[in-house]
Amino acid sequence: MAIRNIRYEGDEILKKKSREVEEIDEKIQILIDDMIETVHKYNGVGLAAVQVGILKRVIVIDLYDDKGPIVLINPKILKTKGEQEVDEGCLSFPNQFAKVIRPAEVVVEYLDREGKKVKVKAKELLAQAICHEVDHLNGEVFIDKIIPGTLEYLES
Ligand code: NI
Repeated sequence: MAIRNIRYEGDEILKKKSREVEEIDEKIQILIDDMIETVHKYNGVGLAAVQVGILKRVIVIDLYDDKGPIVLINPKILKTKGEQEVDEGCLSFPNQFAKVIRPAEVVVEYLDREGKKVKVKAKELLAQAICHEVDHLNGEVFIDKIIPGTLEYLES
């Protein structure tokens, strides 16, 4: 396992759309392990492969609860319900936080790292994290959808 370099604000790759994973091969497994190590190293909640320079539809999320890291490959948000106003940050935008409106609930379908199709209903922080990371796969970053006037810069 290895820590991968994070791509930061201003890097054009963050605006690119990631491609579907066609085969969950050894390379993808190594990428997943490295992404988990990287998100833990920076105490992040989620990381999309594009944030380490790989344009593949792979996400890792860890809410640091008893579920452990969740790996979502080729995720599709099938349904959203309601909304929540939440504080949000991103490992690619260090020390920047702002309020964002996210769905309160989402139904998402994805492949796990064994290639098994999984469908889950997520709410609260997990719903927020899934939406944030799926945005990354579509070349969208949270800073472009914040509630105006809520951006704060925190010293590290
Ligand atoms: Ni992010």
